[in-house]
Amino acid sequence: MEGKFLMEGNFFYVTTPIYYVNDVPHIGHAYTTVAADILARFNRLMGNAVFFLTGTDEHGQKVFKAASDSGLSPKAHTDKLCENFINLWTKLDITNDAFIRTTHPDHIKIVQELLQRLYDKGEIVKRRYEGWYCTHDERFWTDKDVKDGNCPDCGRAVEKIEEENYFFLMSKYHDKLVRHIKDNPGYIMPESRRNEVLGFLRSNTLGDLCISRPAQRLSWGVPMPFDNNYVTYVWFDALINYYSATRYPVSGAGGKMALWPASVHIVGKDILTTHAVFWSAMLMALDIPLPKRIFAHGWWITRGQKMSKSLGNAVDPFEIIERYGADALRYFLFREVTFGLDGDFSGEALVGRINTDLANDLGNLASRSFAMLNKYFNGKIPTPDEVEIELKGLAEGILFKIDAHLDGLAYNKALDEIWTLVTYLNKYIDMNKPWVLAKNNETGGRLRTVIYSLLEGLRFVSLYLYPFMPKSMAMLYTRITKGDISKVNLPYVSQWGLLEKDMQIQEMEQMFPRIETKAKPPNPPAMRQKPQAAGTSPKEECPMNVVDIIDIADFAKVRLKTAKIISAEAVKGSNKLIRLTVDSGEERQVVAGIGKHYTPEELIGKTVVIVANLKPAKLMGVESQGMVLAASDADGLTLITVDREIPPGALVK
Ligand code: ME8
Repeated sequence: MEGKFLMEGNFFYVTTPIYYVNDVPHIGHAYTTVAADILARFNRLMGNAVFFLTGTDEHGQKVFKAASDSGLSPKAHTDKLCENFINLWTKLDITNDAFIRTTHPDHIKIVQELLQRLYDKGEIVKRRYEGWYCTHDERFWTDKDVKDGNCPDCGRAVEKIEEENYFFLMSKYHDKLVRHIKDNPGYIMPESRRNEVLGFLRSNTLGDLCISRPAQRLSWGVPMPFDNNYVTYVWFDALINYYSATRYPVSGAGGKMALWPASVHIVGKDILTTHAVFWSAMLMALDIPLPKRIFAHGWWITRGQKMSKSLGNAVDPFEIIERYGADALRYFLFREVTFGLDGDFSGEALVGRINTDLANDLGNLASRSFAMLNKYFNGKIPTPDEVEIELKGLAEGILFKIDAHLDGLAYNKALDEIWTLVTYLNKYIDMNKPWVLAKNNETGGRLRTVIYSLLEGLRFVSLYLYPFMPKSMAMLYTRITKGDISKVNLPYVSQWGLLEKDMQIQEMEQMFPRIETKAKPPNPPAMRQKPQAAGTSPKEECPMNVVDIIDIADFAKVRLKTAKIISAEAVKGSNKLIRLTVDSGEERQVVAGIGKHYTPEELIGKTVVIVANLKPAKLMGVESQGMVLAASDADGLTLITVDREIPPGALVK
């Protein structure tokens, strides 16, 4: 496994598609742009110069039609709709260096320059043309492509058009393109998409590309510089944005650096052909170097279909951000599905990830660590007695792995690596039991090392997760170090032991509060309780030897289950009650009177045994959906736990 960023360490240029402004952005658009943002942020941390470009595609029939439908001029319409994207990128903490709009005069000038260059070289010719035209997709189809008079792509009706048009002689580049893709295995990724393109080129001879539309049919486009009666095909105009933005001062770029070629174009699989074939051939004809990589990711699907506004199944990113925060959405998109494959977007899965990964694993790790630092060292970072060699090796070693995974846009693998550290740190707490060390008055030595190592580990977690969840990780990092994470040099600061000793730090509130899901009501009681007279107990009612012996059928009525404690907090106003959220196959809340024997932080992660079919009852106003089993003697109380790892919800018989 070899990382690119660590090795090259100089310049990184990443792009997203420029989105059509005829629509409002949805989760799919957010996906590609966050993908680019993660790479941009990671590269900046690695000390590389970065240029991150996104923007809007504003010409063409679709935009023209949307504008006239809304009674606006195309320009007024694009100005308005472009804001939707800019607002979303602000809300998602996107750090694009430039935003290109294809209606910008400088972009248009460069498109025309390149067209003229191709025309002068004889790469563009005029021909009579007859074909089936799909207005929606703005492309021609042949007889063989058309299905029952409809577009094979979008299913809409096509019309027969015969006219003279300009053609880019793309067919000339067939063999050169195949060779380039074969010689550069990383050019088209993932591999399945590369094979798809190669397969297409093997079984089809590349035709020439019709790149003009008569201006009288479509005026909203870039005029052909050598013939004003025509405008450029929208894709020809759009693809050039990646190059044109590097040639004129789009804010942030400014032609200050030699920006081209792009390190990676990130696109959805819907537009792979236009990038892998059209764009590559255009650049070859222009003698401009090809981008280093084109990565086509999969689709977010809802209700069995690609999410899209026109299908009415689009998920609104603004709403998700409002409800759960940008970081949670950013994390979910890249943790849930391998980049390259399709994924089903479900609210349940999103909430599941927030509760499990962010609130339980990460949030609890941070709040427990901060709480213990406060409790045992008054919030002052202790000086460790020793270096935890295994933890140090793990924390430092992850950087190389993240680097390699992100080079291949394997976001979820990078997150897996980071999570090995989160999991390790949680286990580290459970194994070292700082509360026992504290109880035994070991505030020296071991306790100092354990608490220091936890905070130092969290520093690494914040650094590595920052590209994915910038807001919360910047906050965490600042809380631990008082530094600004966006200014660090990652290879330098990812060395163990840099956390400053004796620094006073404040406690940290829960970064990712649990989302209360409607807990499935616990199983209904299997038996109706026998009414009892107040003040009496079964013991008082019956002689001991009779009540102590029960029938197996009676015992079978009690449903005992294993339950993993996900979160724990003291019930306000009580020094005894602790409110536990447990996973017992389903999530539920149980209130236990164990506060004098356990602190909330030492309970998290334990697997206990609960009575699962007890009628819910309120304790100090808090509902308890079950009872935790514990044994007690003169020394106090101890929870009943299990002897080995067992899934939550297992029946105890
Ligand atoms: O195609 N799942 O613009 P566009 C994942 N203007 N990603 C999705 C998605 C989904 N369901 N829906 C959209 C265009 N996307 C042209 C591009 S580039 C020179 C010109 C994302 O607004 C994905 O990146 O239709 C896809 O390729 C892009 O939005 C299409 O955006």
